[in-house]
Parts: sequence; C-alpha cells; structure tokens
Amino acid sequence: MLGHVSGKRSAVTCALKCGNACAQGVCNTSSNNYFRDVVSAEFSRRNMLGVSGAGVLALVFGGGAAANATSATGLSPAAKVAAGNGSKLKFTGIDGVASTVDKVTVPKGYNWKPVIRWGDPLFADSAEFDPENQTPESQAGQFGYNNDYLDIIEIPGSNGKRAVLFSNHEYTNESIMFPPTMSASDVRRTAMAAHGLSVVELRRKGKGQPWEYVRGAKLNRRFLMDTEYELTGPAAGSELLQTKADPTGRKVLGTQNNCAGGTTPWGTILSGEENFNQYFKVSNPTAEQKRYGLTDPNPSRGWHVEEYRLDTDRAEGKNEDNRFGWIVEVDPFDPTSTPRKHTALGRFKHEGANVTIAKSGHVVSYSGDDERFDYLYKFVSKGKYVEGDKKHNMTLLTEGDLFVASFTGSSPANQIDGSGVLPSDGAFDGVGHWIQLTKDGKSVVPGMEIDEVLVYTRLAADKMGATKMDRPEDVEVNPVSGKVYVACTNNTKRTAGQTDEANPRANNKHGHIVELAEKGDQTSTEFTWNLLLVAGDPAVDESVYFGGYPAEKVQPISCPDNVAFDSVGNLWISTDGQPGTIQRNDALYRVTLEGPERGKVEQFMAVPVDAETCGPVIDDQDGMVYVAVQHPGEDGSWEKQNSLFPDYLPAGTPSGKGGLPRPSVIQMYKGKNGF
Ligand code: FEO
Ligand code: CA
Ligand code: CA
Repeated sequence: MLGHVSGKRSAVTCALKCGNACAQGVCNTSSNNYFRDVVSAEFSRRNMLGVSGAGVLALVFGGGAAANATSATGLSPAAKVAAGNGSKLKFTGIDGVASTVDKVTVPKGYNWKPVIRWGDPLFADSAEFDPENQTPESQAGQFGYNNDYLDIIEIPGSNGKRAVLFSNHEYTNESIMFPPTMSASDVRRTAMAAHGLSVVELRRKGKGQPWEYVRGAKLNRRFLMDTEYELTGPAAGSELLQTKADPTGRKVLGTQNNCAGGTTPWGTILSGEENFNQYFKVSNPTAEQKRYGLTDPNPSRGWHVEEYRLDTDRAEGKNEDNRFGWIVEVDPFDPTSTPRKHTALGRFKHEGANVTIAKSGHVVSYSGDDERFDYLYKFVSKGKYVEGDKKHNMTLLTEGDLFVASFTGSSPANQIDGSGVLPSDGAFDGVGHWIQLTKDGKSVVPGMEIDEVLVYTRLAADKMGATKMDRPEDVEVNPVSGKVYVACTNNTKRTAGQTDEANPRANNKHGHIVELAEKGDQTSTEFTWNLLLVAGDPAVDESVYFGGYPAEKVQPISCPDNVAFDSVGNLWISTDGQPGTIQRNDALYRVTLEGPERGKVEQFMAVPVDAETCGPVIDDQDGMVYVAVQHPGEDGSWEKQNSLFPDYLPAGTPSGKGGLPRPSVIQMYKGKNGF
C-alpha cells in the first residue's frame, strides 16, 4: 500500500487518499490534443455563513437579497470596494509555519477551538469515543474520519444561535486510528463506518461566539455504506447501472471517498465522490474501467472481502463500480430524506460541485475532475430556479445539459515553453468554450448513447477534445463578481512538450488558479480566462505570478485545493501538499481580487503537522473562520503518533484517551469568546 511519493504528498497520503493515483499510469491516454497548436477560440457553498448570514438565509429560505448578487455576471457595487480593506475580518497575516510544527497557527489576537472531532458521539445512545476499543457499531454513531467538505448553515429563526453542520469523510488511515491488536475484519468494517457523510446540529450563545455540537439533536445523521441513495437523471435505470442486487439500476447503497462539495441556493449539500476506484477489486479491467483507474486486482483496503459487490470479478460486482463517481445531493434539514446521486452531472472523480443561479434563472453547476490531465465540466439545468420553492429546486439537477471546457491561449505556442515565464503579452490568458456533451436528455457525442456519456463521461470528453488540466479541484463562482475560480492543484507529470497557456508549467509542483469569466450569463458557451496565480515560493522560484502584485510581498503558496469567498468577494484558498513542496504546513490564505492590491496573498492560518486544510468557511460578518483539518499526523503510527491535535493530551502507549490525532472541524475567532 505504501512506498510511493509523488512530490507533493507523503507516501502515506498518496496511498490512502487516492490509491496512489500518481504511481499508476496516466488515466487519460486519449489522443485528445493539448491545445498549444490551436488558436480560436448566487451563491456558493462556503458562503452559507460567509456572505452575510441574513442575506444568505433569505436566499435559501425564500428571500431575495442575495439572489441578485449570485446571478450577476457584472461587478456588483460591493466589488468596487477595495476588497481586502472592505472586509470586516481584520487580521495581520502570519508567516509560513515549518512543516514539523504540530499546532494550529492563527493570527495575533485570534483563538481557535474544535467544533467536532473524529469519534465524537452524535446520538443519545452512541458509544463514547474509545480509541482502544472502537467497533463498527460505535463508529457508526460517531463523527467520521478525515472531514473534508464543510458548511455550517444557520437554522432559520434561531437568531444565529443554532445551525446545522455538514461534513463528509473522505478516507481513513487505519495505521494511526486503530491498535495493531484489532482484527483485520474489524479494522475494515470500522474504517468503512468512518467514511461517508455527517449532519450535526450546533448551538452557541450568539453571533460571533464559538459553536458546540449538540449530541442527540434531531437533525443529526450519519450516512454509511448501507445508506440507500436514489440515482436520478437520464442514466438512472440504465443497464450500465443495474446490478444483481439492484436490477432496477436506481438504488445504490453507500457513497465513497467524498471530497469537496457545495451548498445549493435551496439549502441542500452537494458532495463529490472522488477516488472511488481504490475501493474496488478489478482483475480484468475494460477500457472504460482503465480510464477511471479501476485496475487494482488486490485493493489494500480490502473492503471487497466484506462486501462482495465491491469485487468486480464476482457476479455481485458487475456494474457496481459504475454506481460511484457521482455528485451526491443531501438535504440536511430532513433527516428522513433519501440522498440522491445525480447522473445528469456526469461520472468522474468529482472534487466537488458548486451551483450558481444564472441571470436566466437556470442553475449552473461547476465541477472539476481531480486527476492529472483531466477536465473541467459544467452542467446547465433545464428548469429554472424558483425562489422559495425547495421541492421544485430539488429537481433542477436531474435534467439539463452537460459541457466540458476547452481553453485556447492568446499567445504564440513558442512562448509557452514550460518554464512558467510569462509570454510577451504579459499574461497566461485567452478564450475558451464549453463543448456540449448532452442536450435535452440526449447524447451529442458520436457513437455514444446518453447513458454511456453520463456513466463514461471521461471517455465522452476525450472524444470531444476537452483541454487536459493540471488536476482541477475546487471550482466556485465568486458571489460578488460572478467570475469562476478553478484551483488546479499540481501536475508533476506534465512535460514541457505538453504545456499550454492554461497549464503553462512543466513539472507543475505548485499548481495555479484559473479565473474565468463567462460571456453573458453563466449558461454561456463562451468565456475568457486568465491565470490569477501561478503558485510557488517567490524566494526560490521565478515561475510564479500573483495577479500582477509584487511577488516579493506575498506569502509563498503551493498546491491550491479548496476555494471560498468572503462577503466582499475576496478569494480564500486552502492548500493540500505544502510540506512536500515548500516545506511548510498547509494553510489558508486570503487573496485580494480587485483594485491595486489584486493578487496580494496573505496567510490566515496553518494546520498542524501532516494535515491538509479543507472546507474553508469564511463568515467575515461574524468574525468567524472555519476549516476541516484533515489527516493530521498522517505519517505517524499507532505506537508513535506524529500529532496530538486537537486535544494535545499526553501521548503514551497505549495511544488511547486522546494521545492520537483526531481530524476535526475547527473554528477561529478574535478574543477569548469571539468578538
Ligand atoms: Fe480529495 Fe481532490 O482532493
Ligand atoms: Ca497570453
Ligand atoms: Ca480536495
């Protein structure tokens, strides 16, 4: 399982998080060109609290104040405010933190504390967290491991005192979670129960005050491998989705490897099934399976031993792999609702999905396929958003058209040489268009039926000539400006000969941020784009660019992963992989987008040793910032833990009673109890 290092992450993270994707061959072997030789041409998840609680809640629950901001594609008046200065969240940026430091680092005057930790009991009858003696049953009643996507949505009418928290649990690290004495089967089944999704109610004394979670609250819920999901959309019921246990092809048990996500304008949560391939046993992969990295005859997690449907060599496993890799929609306000997997949005290694309302009223969902040389997608709904009609709005992601992005550079190909040096026109920029894959419920891809396009979306996009990107992760619309921001985290496999103006660096260790402006509203098929940031450490790397801001005045940043916005439209970026690239702990940054300070990068916080910064939520109106701290102490072992986050209880053997790291959602605020 271990033994491979891909440049940015530890060997352990590579093995556990994405099944050593970098060690495998490149999944995208299509002859689809890199574009260097072609010259042609509301409301977002992290803002449920971030874009002024009142306006946001009005939008979700029937009001209209925020709708204009989210549907606008031109700059709203708020965007004219000098961005960094316009935010109520005042802080002095911190310096980078050495990658050996096992603590949360926040700006001067700020404090932090956990909201909820791996193992915290959610229900009245849940077992207490007991790391020496975890069982599948105890874990099923507790908060899961490796929280990634995060949102906190205020409960209407609670005056900011109650909220519902959603987080997903991407993967597990058994060697630091469980004592070596635990049986292999218990390890597998407990790890399985530590995956999935969680909904948890929170309470606090008032706005700006820290939250605590409420054990036994009525909205609390865990989504596990036996939770039933309904498949929706044109591919639901397809032969490709039918299995021995589900001949209807419409009901799936469980969700796997949920990474980032998004919160819809109607108050539901979207969550992306990402590296689902690593859970399946596949001895004789088809071409389609190979394109998804479904090639492991002996997957180290061993879940196929517990659940025969995950063994594609067995009759029970036929087509089961096709039922993962989707965008999942959950209603956190209805604990009895059936979560859904939306086939209309396509199947790939979804980082997440973020929905905005176009001027026309159609909703548009953006999604990155997080694999080297994979693509950027968007979905445009057939129906239109109706304010206040949640039941109707919950149908919007079941019908619509799917597109994949093609980028074209403005500069001559010979100026894009892989060095990262800006071309003579001073910008990595250009135009682009959205290539249609489905229209009115039918395929527009030659030789593929609608269900094939949706189940084998990567192959459809290959055929249609999409642009191969450097691992597109989070994609979000700025609720103030309407521009779209795409975090391309890195791609060390790209060679100089494979570079293009949208992916201009060979051996791209540090990644970049694409800023994309749709022509007209979000349903447009044409856009312009530029690279806002070409990340790295300016002290040692000349191939960096910070939106024109002097490079010597910014904090180094590498491997952008999740993005979020504050109420005045500043971009916030969290990172995944800085220990391996700039020898600093992963972190959260604010980037000014408008005015003379465009491109100014300031570091807000750093997570502890080996951890990744996930799920940022910026509530600058309330002076609160939240992140999901994922895989702290990843490189340790049960006997020798690397991190004691977040409780920092004395370590010891046995490791129990807090002497081990617990992935947690944390909150950061000014003063002792908030401001
Ligand atoms: Fe799970 Fe793309 O990070
Ligand atoms: Ca250019
Ligand atoms: Ca991610």
